[in-house]
Amino acid sequence: MEYMKRTVTCGELRAPDAGKSVVLNGWVHRKREHGPITFVNLRDRYGITQVVVEADAAAALKAAAAELKYEYCIAVKGAVRARPDTMVNPDMETGAVEVVASEIQILSRCETLPFMVDEKSDAKEDLRLKYRYLDLRSLSMQRKIRLRHEVAFAVREYLSGQGFYEIETPTFIRSTPEGARDYLVPSRLYPGKFYALPQSPQLYKQLLMVSGMDKYFQLARCYRDEDARGDRQPEFTQVDIEMSFVKRDDILDLVEGMMGYVFDKTLRAKLPAKFTRIAYDDSIDLYGTDKPDLRFGMKMQDASGLAAKSGFQAFKDAIADGAAAKAAAAQKGITIDGGAVKALVVPGKADYSRKQIEELEAAAKIYRAKGMAWMKVSAEGKLEGGASKFFAATAGGAGEAAPAGLEAEVISTLGAKPGDLILMVADAKKRVACQSLGAVRSKLGKDLGLCDPSKFEFAWIIDFPMFEWNEEENKWDTAHHMFTMPQEKYHATLESDPGAVKGDLYDLVMNGFEIASGSIRIHDPELQKRIFRMVGFSEEEGQKKFGFLTEAFKYGPPPHGGIAPGLDRLVMLMAGETSIKEVIAFPKNSFAISPMDESPNEVDEKQLKELSITIVSTPNGSQVEIRK
Ligand code: AMO
Repeated sequence: MEYMKRTVTCGELRAPDAGKSVVLNGWVHRKREHGPITFVNLRDRYGITQVVVEADAAAALKAAAAELKYEYCIAVKGAVRARPDTMVNPDMETGAVEVVASEIQILSRCETLPFMVDEKSDAKEDLRLKYRYLDLRSLSMQRKIRLRHEVAFAVREYLSGQGFYEIETPTFIRSTPEGARDYLVPSRLYPGKFYALPQSPQLYKQLLMVSGMDKYFQLARCYRDEDARGDRQPEFTQVDIEMSFVKRDDILDLVEGMMGYVFDKTLRAKLPAKFTRIAYDDSIDLYGTDKPDLRFGMKMQDASGLAAKSGFQAFKDAIADGAAAKAAAAQKGITIDGGAVKALVVPGKADYSRKQIEELEAAAKIYRAKGMAWMKVSAEGKLEGGASKFFAATAGGAGEAAPAGLEAEVISTLGAKPGDLILMVADAKKRVACQSLGAVRSKLGKDLGLCDPSKFEFAWIIDFPMFEWNEEENKWDTAHHMFTMPQEKYHATLESDPGAVKGDLYDLVMNGFEIASGSIRIHDPELQKRIFRMVGFSEEEGQKKFGFLTEAFKYGPPPHGGIAPGLDRLVMLMAGETSIKEVIAFPKNSFAISPMDESPNEVDEKQLKELSITIVSTPNGSQVEIRK
């Protein structure tokens, strides 16, 4: 029998439609029987409409209604009727009407559900992913997928309006070092050779600038074989952007305009025209991270000077050890930070219990803090408890007596008030002190409910260090990728003082997440060679891995730069979620597995043979052999 095709959607009908004859198609969301009357909530992507099978309905219609179960896919023919005033449901967009059924057609049946399709699914994640198509039926998932679509659409609209071309770059490329591990694709035609899936279109977008494309963007799929986390997936999407003849601020301006447009268009949220800019060093100093959550203040402060005057030997040792390490590194021409004592004032939390403080200390220890000192400011404005004995002259106790006046100096320097809790971490490595107390700040933000998901606080982090010292390999690495331009003022001293060099690099952070990263690129082949040399890349190696790029750069490359906001992370935050899986239709689980199609999976012998691959079982598990 031919099916009755819908004339309206389940989200469409309103009071003025009363009297119309309509056909609805959708899924049985809920069914209630009130004596001889059956109510069916019929759902599709657009909403839910109440269908009524009345007490005096024909026997065939009643029989069809009786047969209906959750998630049956049905067609309903009927007349729209205004609900009596007392029965209007203000929570439903279609709540002013109902459809009185005259015919019900079952289009397909549904087996017992593994979980209810509902707003708030409490099903385990793997079960949701195994039956993702059912999970996606829920209104909350539909809302998120719709938001993702709208964000992608607004991005395209904005960038096209600014004169950008959307250009696809290949997803089978040459394996090039980019930070994470590559996913490899064996070549059938060339046994023993592989394509790599791109970690990002980085090199191709730079080549497009050499081609004179001037303004490029792409909603690019990227693939990285790295451990999954809440904000990471093995495959994800970037809004990849590159522009020619630009300086850093042109790119920041563009992204500010794009974010403003996207947030206004999709969430009706107004963003500031300009985002705060924070130098990397300041971000580490104040928040202990290069992705600060600025929805709350509670900046960290430097208490090294106060600690030096105190009787706290452990703190004094940390500073002295840090100074010695810094001096020793300087002898070798390496610039590093010394030690530091960082302090955090937590307003009004002098009532925190020892257990609560220990939980905070545990967060600090994850980042290698040896411990976390604390003191409380009493109602009388005196330091009390914990490490106060080292800072308050009258307290006595262990350690050297603190000089008179230090207690008042601590309170006024840190701006602490009666009833506040003061937390401190010292380390011979300033970075450890900052990061670990920064982790405490983040935990406090969550614990104290300061992270309002409806607030969007953006900031640019700029002036990143260009190089990082690799302690394991005893060499310098580039902090971002190797094509990043060192800031002009450091060009002369690149080799003599790499630790001091800042790159023309920028990250966009929002609510404690890095949502975009980019840089101005090197377009001078000589400068590029210097960077390769500095990170221990021989000319031959550079030639082998990036030869096509260095070759292209012989042919008049323009000055250029770009950025790549992560679409998944952006939409996740816009949707008020904390996992990017929530905004990806078919994500992998935390073990990089898809419970639905069970990938990765074994393949046929025949396929392996065609690829000249043999799987060999060994005592340590399976191994792959490739015959060349
Ligand atoms: P980067 O590696 O910093 O830079 O990535 C840019 C942005 O992509 C997002 N992102 C991810 N999202 C989900 N899962 C992942 N595994 C993942 N990894 C990264 C983040 C991040 O800020 N080619 C450069 C960009 C450039 O210089 O133009 C790049 O890929 O939001």
